[in-house]
Amino acid sequence: MEIATTVAAVRERVRQWHHERLRIAFVPTMGNLHAGHVSLIEAAARHGDRFVASIFVNPMQFGPNEDFAHYPRTPREDERMLAAAGCSLMFLPDVAEIYPRGLEGSVRIDVPELSRILCGEFRPGHFEGVATVVAKLFNIVEPDMAVFGEKDYQQLTVIRRVVADLCMPVEIIAAPTVRESDGLAMSSRNQYLTAAERRIAPRIFQELGRAAARLASGDSDFADIEDAAARALEGAGFRPEYFSVRTRDLSLPRPDTRELVVLAAARLGRARLIDNAQVTR
Ligand code: PAF
Repeated sequence: MEIATTVAAVRERVRQWHHERLRIAFVPTMGNLHAGHVSLIEAAARHGDRFVASIFVNPMQFGPNEDFAHYPRTPREDERMLAAAGCSLMFLPDVAEIYPRGLEGSVRIDVPELSRILCGEFRPGHFEGVATVVAKLFNIVEPDMAVFGEKDYQQLTVIRRVVADLCMPVEIIAAPTVRESDGLAMSSRNQYLTAAERRIAPRIFQELGRAAARLASGDSDFADIEDAAARALEGAGFRPEYFSVRTRDLSLPRPDTRELVVLAAARLGRARLIDNAQVTR
């Protein structure tokens, strides 16, 4: 596996692959790789002739009081995992390489209809940061396809919109959420949970399951489904931010909408957990 730290080095390698007509799959990450990332990597390896992974903790997507400074950084372990997974190129830029004019001087991508709802309401500027860095990474790596996890369902929806609206020739592949044996969705931020909180954390998945079962049985009392789940999470010790039933493109559903997604975000101690469940009825 090659390691590149500059845009120029990535471009040189990737242009050569394109010249050889090889298909390039890309997995953008913030590092601290776990089994959830491995599933994205496996999907990339299945779809492309070469696969590129980036490791970049993107300051633009963190709010001033969020965990940018403390976000777990494990580049050596990440390198080992990527090499073992057959990664062709690991891109490990520093902040100045991605934002040469600083964060303030950078062009930003806004996705108005999707960025201020759900997580966007609680993390102002977050999706602008995600959309901007992903667009930059796509322009650097020029992949044929890129893989994102369904765990970050709103992020996946934002990225699909960026790609469609900016006419980017990149196929977006969604990989299913990888869970611990008790249902907790894998996330680097699960490390922030204490042992007691870790025991409670799967409740978010259980409440999503309960809501999904009500919806699947034909129940369309969305407000009651959302309130019941939020109250149950609060009772269990969470501070819920939202529990929301949406259409698959994140607008508000009608009673007869058949393709739904239920999304939840809740704080538990120092951790902010998000998860979702898709329902077809
Ligand atoms: O999901 C993530 O890890 C990040 O939001 C991403 C897509 C790598 C952009 O920084």
